[in-house]
Amino acid sequence: MAVIADRCPEIEVTVVDLNQARIDAWNDADLSRLPVYEPGLDAVVGRARGRNLQFSTAVEESIAAADMVFISVNTPTKTKGLGAGQASDLRWVEACARTVAEAATGHTIVVEKSTLPVRTAAAIQTILEAAQRDDRGRSFTVLSNPEFLAEGTAIGDLEAPDRVLIGGDDAGSIDALAQIYGNWVPAERILRTNLWSSELSKLTANAFLAQRISSINSIAAFCEATGADVREVARAIGTDSRIGPKFLQAGPGFGGSCFQKDILNLVYLCRHFGLPEVADYWESVVALNTWQQHRISRLVVEKLFGTVTGKRLAVLGFAFKADTNDTREAPAIRICRDLLEEGAQLAIHDPKVSSTQIARDLQIEASPHTDALSGTGNWAMADTIEQAVVGADAVLILTEWTHYRSLNWQALGDLMRRPAWVFDARAVADPQQVKASGLNLWRVGDGEG
Ligand code: UGA
Repeated sequence: MAVIADRCPEIEVTVVDLNQARIDAWNDADLSRLPVYEPGLDAVVGRARGRNLQFSTAVEESIAAADMVFISVNTPTKTKGLGAGQASDLRWVEACARTVAEAATGHTIVVEKSTLPVRTAAAIQTILEAAQRDDRGRSFTVLSNPEFLAEGTAIGDLEAPDRVLIGGDDAGSIDALAQIYGNWVPAERILRTNLWSSELSKLTANAFLAQRISSINSIAAFCEATGADVREVARAIGTDSRIGPKFLQAGPGFGGSCFQKDILNLVYLCRHFGLPEVADYWESVVALNTWQQHRISRLVVEKLFGTVTGKRLAVLGFAFKADTNDTREAPAIRICRDLLEEGAQLAIHDPKVSSTQIARDLQIEASPHTDALSGTGNWAMADTIEQAVVGADAVLILTEWTHYRSLNWQALGDLMRRPAWVFDARAVADPQQVKASGLNLWRVGDGEG
């Protein structure tokens, strides 16, 4: 919404939320304190806020004044009830549809921006149609306009998207939304489909991207077993123009709020529509991802003589990828939990993630390092990499922060307890340098390591 406001100064954009604290944070005069860390977002908000971009808790009034309403609430995986663990929880989407049905005036175009299961638009339409039948002369159309931005590169993705997808059956409404994007997106990149294709394309795009990561991670494990190097294999296959070079980076598995959630949702829908083989096929992408994370924690334990109890391990990176403070489904969570279960003492460093967030994710409060071989795992935040590494038996690199690419391994190695290991799950450290400093090295997908 900030990018739309930035690119279309003649359009009034109001972002509403029921949460006053959240809205206050978006209105914070200090742009470095916006609630989401995303490179370039502060500048965009700085340009548009107060001009044609407002953040407000006046939900009903803003809907009443709007020609177009974007439903952009989250749709997490259900944790209980029908479809628990797979289906998307649509309670917030439905609540929004009902609020719009109540508060809208005149003709309102309702745009699904949230990632939704196929045919959700039908439910939204039904709720809005019921409202249309009162005598207030209102009318509604529903469009699907899924978002393809990735975190960390969101502003660039929005400013120069590969494509914008608009699904719907009312040509006038589609044109109205296409016109907004047309202010900065070339017309040939604005794709029009029916509602169901648009909803399904979003799930499918994420499923294909995640599938590539599981595919390359499966080959990474095979490389380690056979002496091949997954980066060489990725380069060799990526030069085939039909395969392409992107999304072939082996690592600790995909994290983030979308891939796992969207695939599980797809799996749930396939089962619902009587396609168990299709469901099993996509479910295996998630299973391989979970396996990869446990595989890494297992091999750390194995390399450290079969036990990490009481050992200090430095964890570099907790975010699910670089350039974000988001930790949802981060591979670090599963790997750290496994190691805590084994009684390890973790010193965790991340340039953007707070210790409160890590405590929430690990479901254990941070506590100071103890040497006791009590078997109880502990973790503490390290403000610097040196602080994390001092006295450690191993360093695990779990996020590819740029900073971790050029570490001085000679100096860091001197701070560690020997024999010491570097487990580089992102393959960002210079292998020659690590080995030259007398450290043992495991790199994802490196059969010679
Ligand atoms: C993903 C999609 O890339 C976006 O197109 C989509 O809009 C978004 O989900 C969404 O549905 O909201 P995002 O989760 O922000 O975006 O991040 P990605 O860059 O896709 O990375 C996801 C995970 O895959 C990260 O943990 C990343 O480290 C991992 N990854 C990515 C790899 O392990 N290897 C790769 O080659 C690429």
